[in-house]
Amino acid sequence: MAPGSLSMLTLGIETSCDETAAAVVLDGKTILSNVIASQAELHGKFGGVVPEVASRKHVEAILPVVGKALDDADVRLSDLDLIAVTRGPGLVGALLVGISAAKGLAAVTGLPLVGVHHIAGHIAANYLAHPGLEPPFLCLVASGGHSHLVHVRGLADFALVARTRDDAAGEAFDKVARALGLGYPGGPNIEKAAAGGDPAAWRFPRTRFPEGSLDFSFSGLKTAAINHLHHAAQTGAPALEGKTRSDFAASFQHAVVDTLAEHAVEAAVRLSLPAIALAGGVSANKALRQAMETRARAVSIPVYWPPAILCTDNAAMIAAAGTHAYLAGQRDGPDLDAVSAASID
Ligand code: KG4
Ligand code: ZN
Repeated sequence: MAPGSLSMLTLGIETSCDETAAAVVLDGKTILSNVIASQAELHGKFGGVVPEVASRKHVEAILPVVGKALDDADVRLSDLDLIAVTRGPGLVGALLVGISAAKGLAAVTGLPLVGVHHIAGHIAANYLAHPGLEPPFLCLVASGGHSHLVHVRGLADFALVARTRDDAAGEAFDKVARALGLGYPGGPNIEKAAAGGDPAAWRFPRTRFPEGSLDFSFSGLKTAAINHLHHAAQTGAPALEGKTRSDFAASFQHAVVDTLAEHAVEAAVRLSLPAIALAGGVSANKALRQAMETRARAVSIPVYWPPAILCTDNAAMIAAAGTHAYLAGQRDGPDLDAVSAASID
């Protein structure tokens, strides 16, 4: 299909971390299929993602997952117009599995291929959930690997406004969850443990950088939480449980999500942006959504977020972002390579 014409059918492939995913999306907006094979349970036994294990599992899963995505959408390879694949950032060995599959499929079908920035994918999840949403807007991307504020200037045009200088928000959730004896992935487990807890019961340090920077730092907060738990264990205190544990989890969660919301709303106001969108695994967190709504309502800015299944890693978001990149003129060839780190702008 020619660029700009309607009815563009894109196959998306995502293997940047511990989800093997493939999806078929129409015109960057309508999901026809969205298949996700998660390895989370396997990595949970190790307390976090083991890169070597992830790559092997992607190799096993990739062809069945792509086949199921085509079947679920009731399309054949010959019906497709484009193949989009995550090129990074992520685990290089894991990314290469998806990229190799995408290149192979592009070679046998003659279809165009585009490599997608994983963060652009997370942002595009919002177009799938809210077809009326259009740039410009401010996007908070909070995941296991990133905590970014992105000025979304166009469908394929991004400017990085702020980022974390150390741990990502999701990483802080995962590590504190581990210290609390909750499993991986930690975010959803902390959210569950925080239910009914008092978010003001414990005070955690928050970092604000000088000179107007909206960058994040979560390592102080994370270390304070972990040190407290380790110190308590060393002095023989009983593990936190019941209401005390809920209070601890709720207070930690509040410190993280309220910081994210504060910086996001401040960025949107400074840039005079008319809307804020949330993206990435942490945006599945209900306390974050609540904090965003409260702070954004005070300055009359609407807030959007995708449903939980589109917040965490999936390939529908990669197909959507790939469609936009293709329509903006991006083309990739057989030399497309994985990148472990790359700025979105
Ligand atoms: O976007 P994602 O699936 O993968 C990356 O690109 O990193 O995000 C995974 C991260 C994990 O750190 C996980 O703990 C966090 O998102 N997460 C959450 C929630 N669901 C997932 N964090 C807080 N609350 C949640 N409900
Ligand atoms: Zn992600």
